[in-house]
Amino acid sequence: MRAAVLTAFGGPEVLVVRDVEEPRPGRGEVLVEVRAAAVNNTDLWTRQGAYGLPGRPDALAGWRGPVSFPRVQGGDIAGVVREVGHGVDPAWHGRRVLVDPALYDGPGDDARPVGLLGSEADGGFAEAVVVGADRVHDMTGSPLGDEALACLPVAYGTATGMLERGAIDAGETVLVTGASGGVGLAAVQLAAARGAHVVALTTPDKADAVRDAGATTTLDRRRDAGDLADALGEVAPDGLDAVVDVVGGPVLAAVLPRLRDGGRWVIAGAMAGPVVEFDLRRLYLHNGALVGSSMHTPAHFARLAADAVAGRVEPRIAARHALADIHAAQEEFARSAHVGKIVLVPGR
Ligand SMILES: NC(=O)c1ccc[n+]([C@@H]2O[C@H](COP(=O)([O-])OP(=O)(O)OC[C@H]3O[C@@H](n4cnc5c(N)ncnc54)[C@H](OP(=O)(O)O)[C@@H]3O)[C@@H](O)[C@H]2O)c1
Repeated sequence: MRAAVLTAFGGPEVLVVRDVEEPRPGRGEVLVEVRAAAVNNTDLWTRQGAYGLPGRPDALAGWRGPVSFPRVQGGDIAGVVREVGHGVDPAWHGRRVLVDPALYDGPGDDARPVGLLGSEADGGFAEAVVVGADRVHDMTGSPLGDEALACLPVAYGTATGMLERGAIDAGETVLVTGASGGVGLAAVQLAAARGAHVVALTTPDKADAVRDAGATTTLDRRRDAGDLADALGEVAPDGLDAVVDVVGGPVLAAVLPRLRDGGRWVIAGAMAGPVVEFDLRRLYLHNGALVGSSMHTPAHFARLAADAVAGRVEPRIAARHALADIHAAQEEFARSAHVGKIVLVPGR
C-alpha cells in the first residue's frame, strides 16, 4: 500500500511517500481502509521533534518522548473496516467508522491517553491502518461525509477534552485562543453549542469564519497582551469563567487576572511559546484552576462519536489534497492562512 512514512526527525524531506507492506489485523484488531485523514499541528511538531524533554526543552522528541522510525503519521482517520482479526465481531466488516486515535493507560471510560496513532503507533497517512477493535466507532447513519468525519478525532476530540476538563457550561463566558485553528474552531463551535458566550482571539481576516462558528465576539490576537487584557475588560466586564487555550505565551500572564473567582484556565497547546512567567497570586487568591489537557478520554470520544452520528458537529474543511501531495498539504497548514481542517485523501 502507499503510505507517507516519517523516517527521522527533521524537515519535510524526512517524510517520504512510498510503498510499504499492508499491515494485518491481529487478535482484537481491525484493518481500516482509510477514506480520509486530516492534518494536525502535532504531525508537524512530531516530524520536527519539537516537543522537548523534561529539563531539556530543546531536545528532539515526540509528545511522549522517543519516536520509533519508520513511522506512518496521521491521527485523524475515517474509513471502512475491511478485515477483522480473531475475537472481533465479524459484523464490523464493511462498516464506516471513525477511529479514536488515542492509546490509553488502561481500561475504563476515564483512562488517560498516553499515545497517539501516528506517533506511538502507525496512523492514517496510508491506504490502510490496523487499530484496536475497541477504538473504532460505528458511523452508520451519520450525515457527515468521510472528509468531514476525518476532521474530528484530534481537533474535536481535544476540544471536547478541554471543555469537559474545564467543565464549560451554559451561560458562561469563555475565551478561546487560536480560534481559527483545528482545535480552536472546534472549541468555539462546541462551547457555543453548550450555550456558552464565546470570546475568540484570532487574526482579523479570519474573524468572520470564527463568528460563523459561534463566537459572540472576536478580538485581534496580534494586539499587545496588555491591550488584550484591557479589551477583554470591555467585552467581558464581569470577567471570564474559563479560558480554552492552545496558544499560551504572554497572553497567559496578562489575561489571568481577567478570570473570575473559581475560573478555569485549560491549556492544551503552546503556539506562542511554551515557557511563560506569571503571578501565582492571581491564581491562588481567586481559587483559579490551571488545567493541563491532553487529547480526550474514551468517554469524551464516545460523546464526540455520538455527536457525529447525530450530525451535531459541522467541521469546516479548508482544503483537500491527495495523500501523495502531503508536503503541499503540510506547507499550506504551516502558512496558517486557512480556517478549519486540511484533509488528505488516499488514492486520488
Ligand atoms: N494537548 C493536546 O492534546 C493537543 C491536541 C491537538 C493540538 N494541540 C496543540 O494545540 C495547538 C493548536 O493545534 P491546532 O492543530 O489547532 O493548530 P492550528 O490548526 O495550526 O491552529 C493554531 C491557531 O493558533 C493561532 N496561532 C498560530 N500561531 C500563533 C501565535 N504565535 N500566537 C497566537 N496565535 C497563534 C492561529 O489562529 P489565529 O490566526 O486565528 O490566531 C492558528 O490558526 C498546537 O500547539 C498543538 O500542538 C494539543
